Amino acid sequence: MQQTLPPGIERVLIDAREIAAANARMAAEIARDYAGLSIVLVGVLKGAVFVTADLARALADVPGGPTDVQLDFIAVSSYGNAHRSSGEVRLIQDTTHHIEGRHVVVVEDIVDNGHTLHYLRGMLGNRKPASLRAAVLLDKPYHRALDVPIDYTGLTCPDEFVVGYGLDYQERYRTLPYLAKLRPEVLPA
Ligand code: IMP
Ligand code: MG
Repeated sequence: MQQTLPPGIERVLIDAREIAAANARMAAEIARDYAGLSIVLVGVLKGAVFVTADLARALADVPGGPTDVQLDFIAVSSYGNAHRSSGEVRLIQDTTHHIEGRHVVVVEDIVDNGHTLHYLRGMLGNRKPASLRAAVLLDKPYHRALDVPIDYTGLTCPDEFVVGYGLDYQERYRTLPYLAKLRPEVLPA
């Protein structure tokens, strides 16, 4: 079926069903690893807002997983050019839970050069959590600058700038239910 795409969108790369399946796979792995434990999912705003919500609900569907799943959020901004972050990551909003002694799973939308997740792992790791792992919906391994561990990966992302399902270009396109490729003419050269 031909669907009408918003202006600026070239094509759908990953549809809503594939996203849901990736979340279900990550949820199954997390449920197995944290069976009988209480965990905190720390979603990274704003990009990971949908994956955090959907992963949390997918976790609730897995029998025998964690006894308790709490939600928290952190907001960071990474500087760089319009479509790639630099090494400079800044904390915009901290978590509300105390992380010390907790089993923490950071939930990220995408890892590209790795600076953002590296920063978050360092900062949260300093707070002495009982454990710290990262769940990432999209792994974009082509331009990695830092070798940062990812414990749960949803999908490997093509080497494209993607928007939708939380990911933005200049704050636009976040609410699309799928992941899409922007038209190249929208991005600066
Ligand atoms: P990293 O610091 O390069 O690993 O990138 C992480 C952050 O850069 C993500 O949380 C996104 O905010 C942003 N980012 C990287 N690649 C993309 C993309 O393809 N589309 C939208 N945002 C992206
Ligand atoms: Mg992000």
